[in-house]
Amino acid sequence: RDLHSFPTRRSSDLLQVMTSSTNHKILRKAIFPVAGLGSRFLPATKASPKEMMPVVDKPLIQYAVEEAVSAGITEMIFVTGRAKRAIADHFDKAYELEHQLEKSGKRELLEIAQGVVPKGVSCTYIRQTEALGLGHAVLTAAHLIGDEPFAVLLADDLIHCEVSALKQMAEQHNFYGSSVVAVQQVSGAAISAYGVISGVQQGDRLYLLDGIVEKPKVKDAPSDMGVTGRYIFSPQIFEHLRALKPGAGGEYQLTDAIQMLLMQEQVIAYEFHGTRYDCGSKLGLLRANIELGLEHPEIGNELRVFLKNELFQKLQ
Ligand code: G1P
Repeated sequence: RDLHSFPTRRSSDLLQVMTSSTNHKILRKAIFPVAGLGSRFLPATKASPKEMMPVVDKPLIQYAVEEAVSAGITEMIFVTGRAKRAIADHFDKAYELEHQLEKSGKRELLEIAQGVVPKGVSCTYIRQTEALGLGHAVLTAAHLIGDEPFAVLLADDLIHCEVSALKQMAEQHNFYGSSVVAVQQVSGAAISAYGVISGVQQGDRLYLLDGIVEKPKVKDAPSDMGVTGRYIFSPQIFEHLRALKPGAGGEYQLTDAIQMLLMQEQVIAYEFHGTRYDCGSKLGLLRANIELGLEHPEIGNELRVFLKNELFQKLQ
């Protein structure tokens, strides 16, 4: 599909395999910006983080961490803020709980509790003391990343698929050696809630980016391809994050740093396989709960019967 995009590249501008040794370092680290207030979910988020809201039986942030693990990432860096302690507690060892479960012979539950952080995975927490935007949040973790590529995952975006979206992106990153942003088609006016790309399709699901803009008005949107909350960056992004000026909504926007990065080096947009739930919205979170609930081994069948026999009747 061709994007109805503005300035198109010349056909000679094809995707290159980038050869810098930095870009081809193994992807080991991920940043999870989790400092947001979650005000759309008040009062649920008054004293607890929105990232801890469950989809069926697992908090959103754990889905994101599992996705990072599936892409081979072992160092998780959480950029946190006020009232986010529950996230650190969740990924900590729960001695008392484990002891109780062991004593009462609840082996399966014990394994679930112990499996929250897989072996070999480390978690680091750093505070973003001011809510200055996503670009600022990512920059806050710069000293923990150093000179290597890294991923950014927004836990609000829950992506459900067989091969995780980040793993799909990591394959592209490993091949081309360039930064990769996840995109999906967004219909109608909703596009103005996203970072929106322009670029040229270069193969199955791949676009060579030539522009990106944060939350444009519908009439100004360069295409119908919106950025989803998954990114893999080369460390060069930091120099652009440092140079950022306030953008859309007065915030330091990651999108604006990507726009500067793509003028310096190749950036790819990748249209991932999978269903994305916008769990930053009430409806999105409910949809995720229903759809993942239907697949859940413990409650799937009963939920299906309930939806079909009871709920469906009420909706007639
Ligand atoms: C952020 C990004 C935006 C992206 C979106 C995906 O916006 O700034 O570019 O499209 O995440 O969920 P937010 O939803 O935090 O306003």
